[in-house]
Amino acid sequence: VKGGFATFMEKEIHDQPLAVADTLRGRADAEGRLKLDELRIDESVLRLINKIIVIACGTAAYAGHVAKYAIELWCRIPVEVELAHEFRYRDPIVDEKTLVVAISQSGETMDTIMAVRHAREQGAKVLAICNTHGSTIPREADAVLYTHAGPEVAVASTKAFLAQITACYLLGAYLAQLRGNMFGDEIRSLLDELGTMPDKVAEVIGSEEEIARVANDLADVPSVLFLGRHVAFPVAMEGALKLKELAYIHAEGFAAGELKHGPIALIDEGQIVVVIVPSPRGRNELHAKVVSNIQEVRARGAKTIVIAEDGDADVEPYADVIFRIPKTPTLLAPLVAVVPLQLFACHLAGAKGLDVDQPRNLAKSVTVE
Ligand code: F6R
Repeated sequence: VKGGFATFMEKEIHDQPLAVADTLRGRADAEGRLKLDELRIDESVLRLINKIIVIACGTAAYAGHVAKYAIELWCRIPVEVELAHEFRYRDPIVDEKTLVVAISQSGETMDTIMAVRHAREQGAKVLAICNTHGSTIPREADAVLYTHAGPEVAVASTKAFLAQITACYLLGAYLAQLRGNMFGDEIRSLLDELGTMPDKVAEVIGSEEEIARVANDLADVPSVLFLGRHVAFPVAMEGALKLKELAYIHAEGFAAGELKHGPIALIDEGQIVVVIVPSPRGRNELHAKVVSNIQEVRARGAKTIVIAEDGDADVEPYADVIFRIPKTPTLLAPLVAVVPLQLFACHLAGAKGLDVDQPRNLAKSVTVE
């Protein structure tokens, strides 16, 4: 069942190229029109949506953060991302023109179910992105886009996360097409670009041994900080969450721009800081700013582990360790950038002799509020 791997988590990390490919498969009809799996809302209603609120918990919520960048850029609709349990217990401003997107691997997370019910009571339409056919959230939603990651057994989410991000790109492209923000050629080139992602994910998994070596040497560290900007900010938070839940190490993810507003005070000799660097070929000021963040923490004694694109030489003077990722457009980069962080947490927990499939105090699906 573990496909020759020592743990389900490792197997599921290795399943990720397939999870992305399967989630992409068969999404466009013969005319190149994208489609959802289930649609119980009129498309004319979706054309009039003026706000999107993504609700989810944990890792699924980080997929929602990535969705915000893509959907706002492609569809020019404001997107808010909120933890489902926070959304539920305030008075969110939602009406018939709000699309609530609920992301859940299990479809049974009680916090998210309650938020979905609350949104529908206020008249909002709910679209579910879910990995489990026939579970509660897709059954109660007005529309569904299934992720095809296959069953996820390890408690910590990995392949479902990549599939969720993939589904979010598809949703963005679907809405952009429906609302006339993107046309045939643009959609096709986006789908082509997405189609190259499974191989890129596989390439990063190919560096597992090197990542495991670095992780083994760090089994005794008390704390790790993760920094990222733009779409790499949720990736940083996900990297920190994986390390907390698997290795029981204090970890925090920050938006790199926040560093000077407080967190930089945490940096002293030997503090491990993981920095996710955006593509130097993308928006250049973003890349330059993150490189200078690496310099800032390094100058204060931090040991830096840098996730950077192949060929990015600017990071070399400031990196103690570099994990390379293939060249990828900035918006799609979370799919590759998170993989070294998953492997890092998995191997660090393994080096500590911990049960990576069943971390203490956690359940695979949180069916209580
Ligand atoms: C983290 C993790 C959790 C889940 C969260 C939501 O590794 O697995 O944070 O992502 O509990 O679960 P679903 O997606 O089933 O709603």
